[in-house]
Amino acid sequence: MHRIFIVGGGGKIGRLLCAELVRRDQQPIAMHRNPAQADELRALGAIPVRGDLLTLSSSGLAELMAGCDAVVFTAGAGGKGGEAMTNAIDGDGLELAVAAAREAGIRRFLLVSAFPEAGRRKLVSPTFENYLRVKKLADVHLASTDLDWIILRPGTLTDHPGSGLIDSGPALPYSTISRADVALTLAELITGPRLSRVIIELTQGGTPVKESLQALLAH
Ligand SMILES: NC(=O)c1ccc[n+]([C@@H]2O[C@H](COP(=O)([O-])OP(=O)(O)OC[C@H]3O[C@@H](n4cnc5c(N)ncnc54)[C@H](OP(=O)(O)O)[C@@H]3O)[C@@H](O)[C@H]2O)c1
Repeated sequence: MHRIFIVGGGGKIGRLLCAELVRRDQQPIAMHRNPAQADELRALGAIPVRGDLLTLSSSGLAELMAGCDAVVFTAGAGGKGGEAMTNAIDGDGLELAVAAAREAGIRRFLLVSAFPEAGRRKLVSPTFENYLRVKKLADVHLASTDLDWIILRPGTLTDHPGSGLIDSGPALPYSTISRADVALTLAELITGPRLSRVIIELTQGGTPVKESLQALLAH
C-alpha cells in the first residue's frame, strides 16, 4: 500500500481521488483547510491532514508529507479572491508543494493543470486569462525540476458521472471531461504502468482509461 499525499484533498477531484485510491488499496492523505471536512474524508478512507498553502512553510508542508510515496497537487483558488489568490494558490502554492516534496524526499509528483486553450475564441475575464497564465507557469516550474513528475491537463471539468472513457495524449483538441474521470486517470497514473516526465492532455473520449494510458507508454 502506498501513501499518496493530496494537496487539495478536500476538493471535488481530491475527494473522488481519495475514494478511487482506497478502492485500489492505496492510502490517501488528504490535505484540507476546513475542519468540517475531516469526518467526510475519514469516511472515504483517507487520512485527513489540516494545512493551508497560504500559511505553511515548505518545511512545515514537508513534515505533513513525510513518509508519503507520491504527491498529487489538485488545489486551486477556483477564481475566488481574484488574480492575487490564483497567483498564491495555483502558482506559489504549487511551487511551495514542489519544494516541500523535495525536502521530504518524495520524487513522484502529479499536477492537475489545465488546457492552455481553454479560453480560445471566448471573451474571457482578466481573472481567467491570468489563471491560464499561472497554470502554464506552474507547468513550467514543475517540468524544470528533476522530480518524477506528470502534468495532467484536463479540459473543462464537469460533474457528470464517470464513464471510464477518455482521450489522453501529448496534444488533443480542447474539450470537457468529468471530474470523476480525471480522478480515475490520476489513480491509474499512480497505480498503473509508470509514465514519467510527460505532459498529458485529457478529455472525455472513447478509450478505457487503462488502455488509453497504456498507449502513451508505447510512444
Ligand atoms: N474548473 C475547470 O474546468 C478546470 C479545468 C481544468 C483544471 N482545473 C483544475 O482542477 C483542479 C481541481 O479542481 P476541482 O474542481 O477539484 O476544484 P475544487 O473543488 O475547488 O478544489 C480545489 C481545492 O483546493 C483547495 N485550496 C484552495 N486554497 C487552498 C489553500 N490556501 N490551502 C490548501 N488548499 C486550498 C480548496 O480548499 P477550500 O475548499 O478550503 O478552498 C479545494 O479543496 C484545480 O487546480 C483547477 O485549477 C479546473
